[in-house]
Amino acid sequence: MYESDAKINIPVKQIDESRQGEPFQRKEDRPFDASGLYYIESYGCQMNFSDSEIVASILSDAGMHHTTDYHAADVILINTCAIRDNAEQRVRNRLAQFQALKKEKRNLTIGVLGCMAERLKKKLLEEEKIVDVVAGPDAYRDLPKLLATADEGQKAINTLLSREETYGDISPVRLQSNGVSAFISIMRGCDNMCSFCVVPFTRGRERSRQPDSIVSEARALFEAGYREVTLLGQNVDSYLWFGGGAKKDFGKLSAEEQGRAIRFADLLALVAEVSPELRIRFSTSNPQDMTRDVIETMARYENICNYIHLPVQSGSSRMLKKMNRGYSREEYLEKIGMIRSIIPDCGISSDIIAGFCSESEEDHRLTLSIMEEVKYDMNYMFYYSERPGTLAARKYEDDVPLEVKKRRLSEIIELQQKHSLEHNRQDAGKTFKVLVEGLSKKSREELAGRNDQNKMIVFRGSLSEYPAGSYVNVKVDDCSSATLMGHIVSK
Ligand code: 5AD
Ligand code: SF4
Repeated sequence: MYESDAKINIPVKQIDESRQGEPFQRKEDRPFDASGLYYIESYGCQMNFSDSEIVASILSDAGMHHTTDYHAADVILINTCAIRDNAEQRVRNRLAQFQALKKEKRNLTIGVLGCMAERLKKKLLEEEKIVDVVAGPDAYRDLPKLLATADEGQKAINTLLSREETYGDISPVRLQSNGVSAFISIMRGCDNMCSFCVVPFTRGRERSRQPDSIVSEARALFEAGYREVTLLGQNVDSYLWFGGGAKKDFGKLSAEEQGRAIRFADLLALVAEVSPELRIRFSTSNPQDMTRDVIETMARYENICNYIHLPVQSGSSRMLKKMNRGYSREEYLEKIGMIRSIIPDCGISSDIIAGFCSESEEDHRLTLSIMEEVKYDMNYMFYYSERPGTLAARKYEDDVPLEVKKRRLSEIIELQQKHSLEHNRQDAGKTFKVLVEGLSKKSREELAGRNDQNKMIVFRGSLSEYPAGSYVNVKVDDCSSATLMGHIVSK
């Protein structure tokens, strides 16, 4: 079985804001020595936010300083999302604002990172001439060089995708951190090829990160006071490390390789062993790959949270086939049954797409009915947005009218709100162990934190008595569809 041999040290890096607010220096006075101020803004999934922390680490190591004030920055970076058209539009609007700033500040460098960089490549740089630097998700180590190239007045681009890059040795700088919860990226890319999804094209092939570096990062975070880590991957259930580099299919390993392989359930256990006081979460699980041993490992460790994000996308087997999801409605429901039989109180959330190509009213009703069967605690709901280059864009017609997509989506949202409220009402009178994250958004006399099932709970209390990172037992008195309200019963 697994033996840890590599001595990997991943220290926790905090933001250096020491140069915040310094007056902007024109580059004419100061040649590019990589000691400027950078500002970074992130859009899209948790993985993108986590990637920005890797970028921050690379730039800090190159001597640059982070600022939260983009007016003060020498370099503005936008870590972009391409998953739906409206995500891209938001980024484009923001880019237009930064462009206006560039008119006043000639030497400002603007860079586009992430999935849009990968998708639009030269268009942004050459045709539209709106940015100076373009770096795809696997090109972040190259950023100091790209910025230096841009500083010399040349356009700088690297959108090469890698089969190996995991940034496993890089200690992320924790941006916007509450000091309690942090993301740990455990793998990159996706090989699933869902027909609607642009991610396999923008983030490339799936590869897993070396487990020692993951455990080491979790340990360092715990020692720095963090009490919750979320293990991130596009498809965590296919995490696989067997010491010989990342290879996708466990079944194709030799018996000897299988014997020493680390799969996701093993990794979960390794991270859970860091400390019983460290909560473990993970995202995203995929129904076709999720195995029983993952759920059993969750049940075995109290500190692995009883919460699974298991996107269904549609309740119609016909749609699921067309989406290339690799499971039917019945198979999905079997997985839900398996989860509930092992962890009866497991929180379950999902992603749903309304109005995928050729979706009929009957298909839509099947989505509503699977929601009724599962009764999700939470759902992320979207209407289908065709992404250029995907299998669906090439093969299927985007033929559900926008008004129909929107109407179906609003029916889905309405049903989810009803279910969330029902779930939350069932929690009234129950007591949960809550990890204090900080003050609530609405009042300085209230604290906020999450329970095991990822539900936000607000309760009276002060940080001096219950500091961020401490655990308290809270009894629920009241709720809305989004939040539970309660009072502390004990530490
Ligand atoms: N249109 C709408 N939603 C999409 N998603 C992914 N691609 C698309 C698309 N083209 C949703 C899926 C996925 C989530 C991250 O985003 O539900 O699980
Ligand atoms: Fe996209 Fe499917 Fe991969 Fe998720 S599993 S990132 S939806 S291709």
